[in-house]
Amino acid sequence: PLARTADLLAEAVEARRGLPAFNVITLEHAEAIAAGAELAGTPVVLQISQNAVAYHGGRLLPLARACAEVAEAARVPTALHLDHVEDVELLRAAPGAGFSSAMFDASHLSHADNLQATAEAADFAHWHGLHLEAELGRVGGKDGAPPLPAHAPGARTDPQEAADFVAATGVDALAVAVGSSHAMTSRTATLDHELIARLAAAVPVPLVLHGSSGVPDEELAAAVTAGLVKINIGTALNSAFTPAVRAALAAKPDAVDPRGYLARGREAMAGVVAHLALLVASLPAD
Ligand code: G3H
Ligand code: ZN
Repeated sequence: PLARTADLLAEAVEARRGLPAFNVITLEHAEAIAAGAELAGTPVVLQISQNAVAYHGGRLLPLARACAEVAEAARVPTALHLDHVEDVELLRAAPGAGFSSAMFDASHLSHADNLQATAEAADFAHWHGLHLEAELGRVGGKDGAPPLPAHAPGARTDPQEAADFVAATGVDALAVAVGSSHAMTSRTATLDHELIARLAAAVPVPLVLHGSSGVPDEELAAAVTAGLVKINIGTALNSAFTPAVRAALAAKPDAVDPRGYLARGREAMAGVVAHLALLVASLPAD
């Protein structure tokens, strides 16, 4: 059934487990994510990024409505999240399109501008019943260094700055820079678990890991144990989908019906989702 992100996050925090969130580009992604989460028996978040909306001609509703239908039919609680929104007009469309949460990404702005834009986005979100996630990377200025988005390689979020940012903006969840970076096709990232623990102690809202595709299983499990809650995974699905489609096309070079090869890609994504959802949402052993 369709669930609300805020409820799923609260339940995950209470149970000290993670909440897996997967990025949707096509209908096959949404179907694979629901199928994989059902196999794992875990709640899940379907998230559509501003870039995915752009891919669909800038129209939000076709994919959002499809995801809402998939979520309602799913046998596990499934929430809809609008991801990496930079365009305020897109944020304004989220409540009417069935989303219960959004990530407002002003991390490319200077710290002062990020703070002001994010506070305004949080006000809008709260008036419209949306849960708002924001991002804080390396704050520039102090040592002459420019600001770095949270998932630029080398960026790290300072716990005190993170706590101050949450207090000043009123956001409900915070994406932090702890060693991952977006769009990795190898799982070679190492996370700073000591920093995650300090951030979890300092910041009163759930912490979010972006760029989780590049993080190995053991590191992901340790990150959840240390205090990360929402685990965003995108590229790992595409790294399964594309080779499966390529293999299916190579096996039947004369085939023209896309259902044959798209089904193989969808199955491959569902397997990755089942594995990662179970890993992230498992209860701690103790
Ligand atoms: O917001 C989405 C995630 O950060 C996905 O990152 O594609 O590197 O797994 P990824
Ligand atoms: Zn991200």
